[in-house]
Amino acid sequence: MAAENLKWWQKSIVYQIYPKSFQDTTGSGTGDLRGVIQHLDYLKNLGAGAIWLTPVYPSPMIDNGYDVADYTAIDPAYGTMADFENLIAEADKRGIKIVMDLVYNHSSDKHKWFLESKSNRTNAKADWYIWRDAKPDGSPPTNWRGIFGGSAWTWCAERQQYYLHSFAVEQPDLNWENPEVRQALYDAANFWLDKGVGGFRIDAIVYIKKPAEFIDGKPDSDGLASVHDVYANTSGILNFLYEFKEKVFAGRDIFTVAEANAVKPEELKYWVGENGAFDMLFEFSHVNIMFAKGEAWHYPYDWKLTELKKVLTDSQKATADNGWYPIYFENHDKPRSVNNFFPKGTDTIKAAKVLAAVLLTLRGTPFIYEGQELGCTNVEWDSIEDYDDIGSHGQYRLMLQEGLTAAQAMKCIHRFSRDNARTPMQWNAEKNAGFSTGKTWLPVNENYKTVNAAAEDKDSDSVLNWYKKLIDLRAANKELISGDYQLLLPESEEIFAFSRSLDGKTFITAVNFSNQKVNLPKDFIDKKIIIDSESNFDKNFLKPLEARIYQ
Ligand code: GLC
Repeated sequence: MAAENLKWWQKSIVYQIYPKSFQDTTGSGTGDLRGVIQHLDYLKNLGAGAIWLTPVYPSPMIDNGYDVADYTAIDPAYGTMADFENLIAEADKRGIKIVMDLVYNHSSDKHKWFLESKSNRTNAKADWYIWRDAKPDGSPPTNWRGIFGGSAWTWCAERQQYYLHSFAVEQPDLNWENPEVRQALYDAANFWLDKGVGGFRIDAIVYIKKPAEFIDGKPDSDGLASVHDVYANTSGILNFLYEFKEKVFAGRDIFTVAEANAVKPEELKYWVGENGAFDMLFEFSHVNIMFAKGEAWHYPYDWKLTELKKVLTDSQKATADNGWYPIYFENHDKPRSVNNFFPKGTDTIKAAKVLAAVLLTLRGTPFIYEGQELGCTNVEWDSIEDYDDIGSHGQYRLMLQEGLTAAQAMKCIHRFSRDNARTPMQWNAEKNAGFSTGKTWLPVNENYKTVNAAAEDKDSDSVLNWYKKLIDLRAANKELISGDYQLLLPESEEIFAFSRSLDGKTFITAVNFSNQKVNLPKDFIDKKIIIDSESNFDKNFLKPLEARIYQ
């Protein structure tokens, strides 16, 4: 596909902001919308064409905004609707679109819809959520387990019934079978489109369709069966999604990207592309590579580079002719990528550059998560009590139930907690990394004195400047945007190399994932090196964790 025929979002870089941790302008210790406005020039300078804002709607913050109490308002902790409108206008001046997060599988249990629904069995919204009677012995209707652990059913004394929640107790699932619910959700999305947003990231969408019959799933060791295994991407879901598209997205110059981790390659054409429900969807196979062998999530296995190359190559191929993918290594649910893809003890600055070279030269729309462009790393706090992430608390309980010691469980929390990515953004070496003058809602990562935007801006060899170099290179060369992808050196367990070609012009990315020096084959040695992460490089080999682009 010629680059000229691509849509704006296929040529853009998307920057994901977790507003709670981005910039606090009031001293409250949590970030806000004015804080986002304050850094728009930083984002423009980086080359971002869109910002995905994770939820800023009113919320009790049980799951940091993914428990929405009002779909068409701004949480006062983040500011006002006027601040939001100002953000759109200021971003627009800089050529940046604002993308909202739609959390439509569930609402907060404090949403007025749920408060009404739970009040009795006959109110106007009685059927807006998923209610079932208890079994004769009083136990939940099925053995389903929510994604954060524990039964997916919670008893409601007022209605004398259970309600279903795929995630936390405080996140009741909406009943998509009810047309009034669907219309209310479409109306809310249209509300934001009327404000001028540039698109949507659509949360946890694979869970909206429930099975026709509610029956027990195959139990795991805790006697429960994950809702993910029971009903992710249940047949019939596409009817909802096509209606959603028709009523909201169709004919608009926006993009949609769905969080959809159970869509099989053969189903992809229904989900993305010309006739698909969305423009893009987030795949999980590469970020979950350490669980690919089916081990319990807390026993990651030692994956090989060829496995990572395979899943990334498969996803490049899946969208080669139809559809488009986001490219990402981080988001607010994942550990920092330098810790997720490299062993302990790795030089994280070099590792960050390796991942950046891949991220910014694959085919698709690159998504950068705040702080990734600085090479931010995981944190390790002593006790589970230090963690805010509701998912970490659930997983910790599950691990203890399975017989792990507290120390073993904490090791897994350190490795995988979502708080790793949620610590405050590191702007400079001043108090609280320049994020806030108050007491920050999560501690700042201790490495902020050196890993921060101000210091990295001045250092030509920093991760931040390496990102900028790659983003500029991508923007200037259409081969890197729409060129065909081909995997090179497929057998190598050290080097990830691939080419991007268009109309006879080719770029080649070669990065060394290993901690050893690796000699290059002859046909690489003859090629022209255009950028390299090492200032002192040798064309015959790649040093440990060296990243190079040829033309
Ligand atoms: C998605 C979000 C995650 C949230 C969950 C429930 O996976 O990315 O942060 O906890 O949905 O809304």
